[in-house]
Amino acid sequence: MKFFIDTANLDEIKAANDLGVLDGVTTNPSLVAKIVQDPDNFTYEDFKNHIAKICDIVGGPVSAEVTTLTADEMIAQGEELASIDENVVVKCPLTIEGLKAMRHLSGNGIRINATLVFSPTQAILAAKAGASYVSPFVGRLDDISTEGMALVEQIVRIYENYRYPTEVLVASVRHPQHVVEAALIGADVATIPFSVIGQLAKHPLTDNGLKRFMEDAVVIRND
Ligand code: E4P
Repeated sequence: MKFFIDTANLDEIKAANDLGVLDGVTTNPSLVAKIVQDPDNFTYEDFKNHIAKICDIVGGPVSAEVTTLTADEMIAQGEELASIDENVVVKCPLTIEGLKAMRHLSGNGIRINATLVFSPTQAILAAKAGASYVSPFVGRLDDISTEGMALVEQIVRIYENYRYPTEVLVASVRHPQHVVEAALIGADVATIPFSVIGQLAKHPLTDNGLKRFMEDAVVIRND
């Protein structure tokens, strides 16, 4: 299973990358907005430079999202984003216009992450449009009392039925159990917030056990 970090924060990306378990990064406009200190002076050039900085840290796929609504605009933006670095994956929303842009961009060798996916039919369309990744948002489905992981299960089964090469990227992850369930289902990737990556390593029995080992270790002389 691949782990992406779901953030645009360079410090978080560096820290997660240093753990040696990071395979890529996903960003979205809301995550980028969080790291912008001076919104009045943050240009599109600044956004592209920020994506380039992320690519310099992590040697894997980095999703950068389009911020336009028509297919033509998404295509122009997607081409611009893809030219930043060979690891950039262009994120397009699963709308009718987004599908047209995905088909065009993927046809020209640009990798696509189909985002804002909330149904199996949308996931089928993403695969047919040549997306490299499909992003079902499990947390946002859970938020409206709908089982997010049931959608992941359906997408994985459908993609297996037809051997679609599109990778299932579980997004909107809120806690470690989402990661466990995604792994049990066999999703290809989970994109995880920095705080949750930390939680994955934590266990109170590990902390207690280590405390005891360190106390008992005093009998082991190393002089
Ligand atoms: C990542 O690709 C998604 O944009 C992100 O996981 C959405 O997460 P949220 O639902 O917590 O905003």
